[in-house]
Amino acid sequence: MTDAVLEIRGLNVDYGLGEDAVHAIRDVDLTLHRGEVLGLAGESGSGKSTLAYGLTRLLPPPGVITGGEVLYHPDGGDPVDVLRMDHAALRRFRWAETAIVFQGAMNSLNPVHRISTQLTDVIKAHDPRGTSAARLARARELLHLVGISADRLESYPHQLSGGMRQRVMIGMALALEPKVVIMDEPTTALDVVVQRQILRQLVELRERLGFSVVFITHDLSLLVEFSDRIAIMYGGRIVEEAASADLYRDPLHPYSHGLLNSFPALRGPKRELTGIPGSPPDLRGMPSGCAFHPRCPHAMERCGVEVPVLGVPPDKSTTAHVAVDQRSPADRTVACWLHPVHDDGF
Ligand SMILES: Nc1ncnc2c1ncn2[C@@H]1O[C@H](COP(=O)(O)OP(=O)(O)O)[C@@H](O)[C@H]1O
Ligand SMILES: [Mg+2]
Repeated sequence: MTDAVLEIRGLNVDYGLGEDAVHAIRDVDLTLHRGEVLGLAGESGSGKSTLAYGLTRLLPPPGVITGGEVLYHPDGGDPVDVLRMDHAALRRFRWAETAIVFQGAMNSLNPVHRISTQLTDVIKAHDPRGTSAARLARARELLHLVGISADRLESYPHQLSGGMRQRVMIGMALALEPKVVIMDEPTTALDVVVQRQILRQLVELRERLGFSVVFITHDLSLLVEFSDRIAIMYGGRIVEEAASADLYRDPLHPYSHGLLNSFPALRGPKRELTGIPGSPPDLRGMPSGCAFHPRCPHAMERCGVEVPVLGVPPDKSTTAHVAVDQRSPADRTVACWLHPVHDDGF
């Protein structure tokens, strides 16, 4: 598809080497389209952060990328594989093209520096030629963008609420007008109301500034509300991917179904909250076949033997009511033996 901004193909990530290696990411294929908010959900330990670190090549040791490619499509240029970029290109890509807000980011502001200094430092690092007055003006503009008044520029981080610190981090991430913003559980430490406000603002900024977002969280209810598409991860694999509305209305994978039933319905009839019995798999002893089968209420014999392929199930190959013209019907995919896929090489 031509409107892709990031295409992850066959990505594999291990922690450790040789016999001790555990496979944290397995054969992940995922596409981020221009201008969309793509949500990535899954219980803790499913590999969401590893995927985010892997695709930006920020994996801390002992993490190793063992295969795959991450194609970045710059505006009007040829795609480049992030995994094969040299250091200079990677540095540019990480800031100017992609910005990342990592887990716990709101605590990563430096406590001894004023907000103004921290914002202008980022601006300066990437454009050392500008004047300090121009940098300060830009810092003020960034704060304004995320809904903080300019008189907060002279505050220290501890003088701001958690929500404000989070907004500052988002402002910082937007400093260089990135094309892709990756947020890894950026708001988990905040209360639900503040989380919603910040997300709503991010979605609005995305429309205004035209970037794409990968939003990672274990809280599927937030994604249903704010993202265009959702990918569900389990045991290091994508097990389902669909437009948010489709996933909410009609989850195909029993795991997605379980996740949806672990939170109260936003509207409509009350669902009974069941949750998912059991706990996420241990990478050192992954179940055979479908990793979810020991917890799955619909498990069949085949599920313990063969790993289901992610693909388009035959009865779901059109999703006409989703009015996003770039979407191809193939965008609804699932890896589950309840929905054996078309064998068309997709
Ligand atoms: N530094 C590490 N060394 C070994 N295993 C790790 C390391 N970091 C993460 N893992 C393992 O990788 C799996 C995925 O972790 P992570 O990507 O943090 O999941 P999530 O972000 O979905 O909670 C987990 O089973 C975790 O134990
Ligand atoms: Mg994580």
